[in-house]
Amino acid sequence: MSKNIDSILQENRVFEPPAEFAQKARVTPDKLQALRDAAEADHAGFWGDLARNEIDWQTPFTVSLDESNAPHYRWFTDGKLNVSWNCLDRHLETRGDKTALIFEGEQGDTRHITYRELHAEVCQFANALKDNGVGKGDRVIIYMPMTPEAVIAMQACARIGAIHSVVFGGFSSQALADRIKDAGAKMVITADGAHRGGKIVELKQATDEALSDGEHSVEKVIVLRRTGHDVAMRDGRDIWWDDAVSGMADQCEPEWVDAEHPLFLLYTSGSTGKPKGIQHSTGGYLINAIVTCQWVFDIQDDDVFWCTADVGWITGHTYVAFGPLAIGATEVMYEGAPTWPDGGRFWKICQDHAVTIFYTAPTAIRALMRLGDDIPNSYDLSKLRLLGTVGEPINPEAWIWYHEVIGKERCPIVDTWWQTETGAHMIAPLPGATPLKPGSCTQPLPGIAADVVDEQGNSVPDNAGGYLVIKKPWPSMLRTIWGDDQRYIDTYWPMFDGKYYLAGDSARRDEDGFFWIMGRIDDVLNVSGHRLGTMEVESALVAHDKVAEAAVVGRKDDIKGEAIVAFVICKGERPVGDAADAMIKELRDWVAREIGPIAKPDDIRFADGLPKTRSGKIMRRLLRAIANNEEITQDTSTLENEAVVEQLQGKA
Ligand code: WT7
Repeated sequence: MSKNIDSILQENRVFEPPAEFAQKARVTPDKLQALRDAAEADHAGFWGDLARNEIDWQTPFTVSLDESNAPHYRWFTDGKLNVSWNCLDRHLETRGDKTALIFEGEQGDTRHITYRELHAEVCQFANALKDNGVGKGDRVIIYMPMTPEAVIAMQACARIGAIHSVVFGGFSSQALADRIKDAGAKMVITADGAHRGGKIVELKQATDEALSDGEHSVEKVIVLRRTGHDVAMRDGRDIWWDDAVSGMADQCEPEWVDAEHPLFLLYTSGSTGKPKGIQHSTGGYLINAIVTCQWVFDIQDDDVFWCTADVGWITGHTYVAFGPLAIGATEVMYEGAPTWPDGGRFWKICQDHAVTIFYTAPTAIRALMRLGDDIPNSYDLSKLRLLGTVGEPINPEAWIWYHEVIGKERCPIVDTWWQTETGAHMIAPLPGATPLKPGSCTQPLPGIAADVVDEQGNSVPDNAGGYLVIKKPWPSMLRTIWGDDQRYIDTYWPMFDGKYYLAGDSARRDEDGFFWIMGRIDDVLNVSGHRLGTMEVESALVAHDKVAEAAVVGRKDDIKGEAIVAFVICKGERPVGDAADAMIKELRDWVAREIGPIAKPDDIRFADGLPKTRSGKIMRRLLRAIANNEEITQDTSTLENEAVVEQLQGKA
């Protein structure tokens, strides 16, 4: 019996790059082919040339790729640079007065910050960090609202060679405490609070709780005044941001660091055990951040780019704090919730700040789609020219809605596959050159050796499912898990003699070489010997016009191995009683028709929401426990919507 993952989803629509877009795009089909050829001819040299051309080096590197300690690959080592210099100083002469950040607070306050102003603020804060005992290699935890100061803090750390680790402001004090300890942090930068959904998130209080047991190495806490409400300040440890920068010079000589010096750690929850501190480098990280902003987002000088991700996620690092600034772009930053005060907030921000490139997550798109077309239709979205998605597969229905209602069929959609670990986009279209298929992240970027393989590491035939792997190192790959090299090797290089990076996703490659992500390997269903990705069944369910969202998991079944359980959120009211029974029948028949009887859910449960992590990922592990009537052992306190768990268990 084949161990491969069967693929059953068929989506045949193709969208060529619109002529008007293609004409002005940075990368034409010819240029894309030239990039692919160059990468194919000399992988390390290709990246070396890009790094030499796109980054300002204080000391040029002589070695592009050092594989002597694989899988701890080293890129551009012996070169020296500074990320903050590349994001700020190098633009001062040519675009010092250009707006770098357009900030909008949840309550409607706005700020425009030029490159010159941002440079001055970063330098002042960098001097304040040094003044408070932080130096090269020290770890600094950033636990802040989505305000410009979060970016300033990240840039200031980079400027002095301190290693920052941003902890998402929605995480609890316990999650914060774990990260502070694992990183051995010397400082925490936080705020009195953050505005989110009309409420105040008590960041300072959570910081105090995280530090309350005294078993940590934090010496100083810098506190930004954001909400202005009263918070406790501890003498000798806590300093207001304003006081820390007062009197500091607005110039600060950057610390020139080796290309391999860690730029930051970012914790991501593993499937088991404690969070992993994903360690990224300086030079390698920066080059992929830069080229993906050029290739995939096609950001040009007059664009207004908006990536909605919080700086607590990798997306907010690469496409808010570093990439756009490194290429001198203007970008929007928004502090609050997408639905505050109503579901038009994102579209209003696009309108008010004339956003041209908009990048968000499928979960946000589906949530906003559920609210109907009238809301986006009441805003002027005519400046938009490119849309993007990241975080999970976008089901074709949501893709088409995004394309028609938001992009008015004018804007290509870049579906970008990547991970915290990969640092930057890996598989994604170049919008002026790559045709689009809804639901596919299209093709690997030049210089990214992605493939779909079986358990032995052999490429699977077209349209067969398998393991998504990366067969050659790339500059922005993670370097290790902080303090745990063995876990790095065990997690990412466990198969194929440690030669290929294992992404942990299942995927298929179609006859045009397009990649379709099928879900996490851990989530693969095994129904009567057929291995099915969760994504395909979910996609079929969501294609039904009464379904807003769906999550599919396996339940143990004596006969089939696994039975399919679908958790479904309907548009409008949740069906109950007879209506629910009728809807269940309708959906089972629908899936059987859409993809075949094998994928027909055995069990369908309706709810008002799905359990999601704060970053919007469906917690399938939790759903699996519910479907199997197991006790829930996971910590549900970091869930976005804890209450739905009882409903899904049938208790509410
Ligand atoms: C996992 C990585 C990368 C920033 C946000 C998430 C899933 C990500 C896509 C996409 C299908 C996707 C994968 C991946 N994923 N982008 N375009 N299509 N799946 O970062 O939290 O590290 O998660 O997100 O499963 O492995 P992350």
